[in-house]
Amino acid sequence: MNSRLSGFHRLSIAERRQSLVESRALAPDALPALDSGGLSLDLAERLGENVVGLWSLPLSVGANLRVNGRDVLVPMVTEEPSVVAGMSHGALLARAGGGVLCQASPALMFGQLQVMDVPDLALACQALAAARDALTTAADEPHPTLRSLGGGTRAWSWRSVTSREGDMLIVQAAIDVRDAMGANAVNTSMEAVAPLVERLTGGRAVARILSNLADERVVCASCQVPVAVLATADMAGAVVARRIAEVSAFAEVDVHRAVTHNKGIMNGIDAVAVATGNDWRAIEAGAHAYASRNGVYGPLSTWTLQGDQLVGMLELPLAVGVVGGATRAHPQAQLCLRMMGIARASELAEVMAATGLVQNLAALRALATEGIQQGHMRLHARRGQALAQSEAPC
Ligand code: MEV
Repeated sequence: MNSRLSGFHRLSIAERRQSLVESRALAPDALPALDSGGLSLDLAERLGENVVGLWSLPLSVGANLRVNGRDVLVPMVTEEPSVVAGMSHGALLARAGGGVLCQASPALMFGQLQVMDVPDLALACQALAAARDALTTAADEPHPTLRSLGGGTRAWSWRSVTSREGDMLIVQAAIDVRDAMGANAVNTSMEAVAPLVERLTGGRAVARILSNLADERVVCASCQVPVAVLATADMAGAVVARRIAEVSAFAEVDVHRAVTHNKGIMNGIDAVAVATGNDWRAIEAGAHAYASRNGVYGPLSTWTLQGDQLVGMLELPLAVGVVGGATRAHPQAQLCLRMMGIARASELAEVMAATGLVQNLAALRALATEGIQQGHMRLHARRGQALAQSEAPC
């Protein structure tokens, strides 16, 4: 499969679909599902609450991405045309240096138990330490399938803190959720283990919930772009690369800029999250908390000039799944996973991180050169023409 789709944006929708079939990203019989939006009212009623209808967004394809030596066409659901155009352009630039290299860590999620009214915190900690195996058994008991797949609880920790409501013990489990996003599994485990924790500590369990700061489930993405490919009509590649490094450094020293820098990364990541039925609110919450992990909110990625290469690095937590929830239930999400040839959550996380990195590259290159408005205006003008045509009286 070749993700290098030259001139894809100039094709009609029918031609683009044909090109996806020819590049074997989609089977011909998958095409009709693209029209329906994938969701019937019946299915919407089963997925949602108080449903009265459907609400659609464009499903687009980001081209040119290569991740760990493999070409991937990236399904993106977004209303912002410059996101898809930017991603495809950034991917093309990164491709000139061999594409993006990514590595996802194991799928460890944290579950938390808040325990109040513990009579003796030191004794409670001793009792927990002596009962680690029993805690693991209780937490994993509801998940025979996860255990058969090699997942389950890996570690326990606890600490006491003083709050305005009194002292509390925070008991935390690290759980390997394999190919799931993990929220349901972790919440179930925390609820299952709570009675045992209450018995061991003599306290009262209150909140039993996963943490959306998945800071042990991190993906690293990097790429090297030969500066020559960054050139514009009136700026040499080395000049553009230097200016991109300068814009990147701006985000390291100014929190207002860092937030916008990260928003540009999340433009790409969220679009893939929505296309694959993943929980983008969880991803956003985790990413921005991770951006503050050193006590000051900072950029999730950096770009530096190293000789004749512009080097980009991105690191963020990505709690995404390929099983369960809307990912499994939504036919379009299934189709999007198939389009990327993805079977594992770690592969999806890697493609999403790569998408975020090249999205960021495209944004910074635009900022460092003509500014983003010119490109936006070109796209809006095209969209305006299309809208005017579709609204013209026949
Ligand atoms: C717009 O959606 C995203 C950008 O503002 C990101 C950035 O400034 O880096 C272009």
